[in-house]
Amino acid sequence: MRYKVSIIGAGNVGAEAARYLLYKDLADIVLIDIVEGIARGKALDLAQASQIIGFSGKIKGSNNYEDIADSDVVIITAGVPRKPGMSRDDLIEVNFKIIKDISEKIKIYAKNSIVIVVTNPLDAMTYAAYKILGFERERVIGQAGVLDSSRLAYFVSQKLNVLPYEVQGLVLGTHGDDMVPLVRYTTVNGISITKLLSESDIDEIVNKTKYAGGEIVQIMGTSAFFAPGDAAGYMAEIIIKDIKKLISASVYTKGEYKLNDVVIGLPIVLGKNGIEKIVELDLDEREMELLNNCAKHIKELQLVVDRFLS
Ligand code: NAI
Ligand code: 2OP
Repeated sequence: MRYKVSIIGAGNVGAEAARYLLYKDLADIVLIDIVEGIARGKALDLAQASQIIGFSGKIKGSNNYEDIADSDVVIITAGVPRKPGMSRDDLIEVNFKIIKDISEKIKIYAKNSIVIVVTNPLDAMTYAAYKILGFERERVIGQAGVLDSSRLAYFVSQKLNVLPYEVQGLVLGTHGDDMVPLVRYTTVNGISITKLLSESDIDEIVNKTKYAGGEIVQIMGTSAFFAPGDAAGYMAEIIIKDIKKLISASVYTKGEYKLNDVVIGLPIVLGKNGIEKIVELDLDEREMELLNNCAKHIKELQLVVDRFLS
């Protein structure tokens, strides 16, 4: 059986997510954008790589939501990215309108899909999509943790001169400056980095992880897209292959970590049903304090979303 993944927003992140899934031959892709030429043009461009790469999946670009019917997964990457000097939170009003429009369409045309939200501010936009879609929480998931954890692993690998994929780490909380890289649970071949690095090296890695997205905006004038697009594509891959992998992702809480009614990055097991399980790690007092700070900040943004929704 061939899977179908629809990607809403054929910009930088959306096109990279499409490329990831096509090049690994994981699904047929529908690329939707409000600017029809962008979706159609990028779909044609990607399709013309099929002989070189050797994939058999099909890709269609469109601005017609009927094309997303029967999608297994829908990835939302539509929205405005930040410019230098902007925080992710500054995008809330403009991107809420976009998420609202798209979620209403997904509800009509792809009501059985699992939805992965990428648009910033990530946690608040995932909350908005969850509220508008009305799907069970297992099927509305925010992508940030895969990206932030990969950035953490990259910085650890640089410091220790090991391969990034030898490093396992989790970043929880919000996709913003308050994110919580779980240092104690970050390992190289099973050994905690607290045993391998000094406190000041670890502080440096934590700070680099928190500001990795901002650094790229400063350098490039727009936000990152290769690693973010790959992170979203990877989440779709885990769902399609039912890998049941433990990752960090933004989820709507119902009491986990004593958090309620907030969309926040937590460890989850991802599989064919979306969130198969939320994993409750044993966090120490400081880690819980940092997670609670994130929850407080996200709830403030959710109040803004609630106001837009009413
Ligand atoms: P981009 O500007 O390259 O692409 C956005 C696309 O969305 C454009 O092609 C635009 O025409 C389209 N669009 C706008 N309104 C639409 C609508 N109503 N329906 C359909 N398409 C619409 O931006 P980029 O770099 O791809 O970023 C997209 C979003 O992803 C931004 O909000 C950015 O902040 C966020 N982002 C999130 C990350 C994460 O880890 N969660 C990482 C990187 C970016
Ligand atoms: C990033 O982390 C801006 O969310 C985007 O690169």
